[in-house]
Amino acid sequence: MESDKNLSTLLPYFDVLLEDFAEGNTDVIECFGLHVHWGYWENPGLADGSTADFAQAAENLVRKMSDLAETKNGMKILDCGCGFGGNISSLNQRFSNIEFVGLNIDPRQLDRAKSQVKATHNNQIEFVEGDACQLPFSDASFDLVFAVECIFHFPSREKFFQEARRVLKPGGKLVLSDFVPREVVLSTWSFTSPFSQPLVTHAYGQVDATYSLSKYRDLAKSTGFQIGNEIDITQNTIPTYQVIRKLQFAGDNKKAALGNWLIEIISRLTLIRYLILSYVKPF
Ligand SMILES: C[S@@+](CC[C@H](N)C(=O)[O-])C[C@H]1O[C@@H](n2cnc3c(N)ncnc32)[C@H](O)[C@@H]1O
Repeated sequence: MESDKNLSTLLPYFDVLLEDFAEGNTDVIECFGLHVHWGYWENPGLADGSTADFAQAAENLVRKMSDLAETKNGMKILDCGCGFGGNISSLNQRFSNIEFVGLNIDPRQLDRAKSQVKATHNNQIEFVEGDACQLPFSDASFDLVFAVECIFHFPSREKFFQEARRVLKPGGKLVLSDFVPREVVLSTWSFTSPFSQPLVTHAYGQVDATYSLSKYRDLAKSTGFQIGNEIDITQNTIPTYQVIRKLQFAGDNKKAALGNWLIEIISRLTLIRYLILSYVKPF
């Protein structure tokens, strides 16, 4: 397991978030104290730029994903890269008799998740430290595996898909969200990445945003998944950027601001799309 020092290098934006929380920054706590992902607005034109509106949009993203997953009472659910427990907290409020496991590589986040997410509705919740590419769970033990906005940090998407397939029961689903580049972006990658990658790494740590939709389709095939949904919600996430600009998300410095500006521009141009993807393990 990585030491806290190495985690700081891997996840610099979480260092910033945890510092903001410790300083009592209420806007940052409202926006990112539970969920740490982009918002989803069914009607982006109605977004008002407020922290309350953003917090509701962040909750809406996990609702959208759990609806697509067809979450039901009584399931066993694994949330990989569970952050501060936001996805499990949302499901815990709406479903019963569920066994939840939240997995995260960062023990600091797990401490916060444990303290703020308590089981209700006859659910059980366990938070486990570990790497999503080496899942410490038995074969065929979960009905659903979620990975909300975190797969770009994992050491290998291929290893993660293999592990997710292994721990899912037949008929079980993997549901994830990711920033997925168009092929044209990848064709210019060798020219643009020396400028863009250091900015993104400075703010967000290790990020691999080079996985196109066709690569995902190949990966599903090679790891034995059937493709479920491929939903483009880029436009529904765009109001996120005015909030992260206002809150100086990922750091109050020029490099972090430039990194966020870059992600905003390529997202507005839909050169990188925000997709929800789901996969089914066949019977
Ligand atoms: C953008 S945050 C998303 C958190 C959470 N899914 C949410 O939506 O609120 C990315 C998460 O991935 C986690 N992560 C990064 N690498 C990981 C790995 N190899 N295994 C498990 N979790 C990892 C980070 O610690 C962080 O919690």
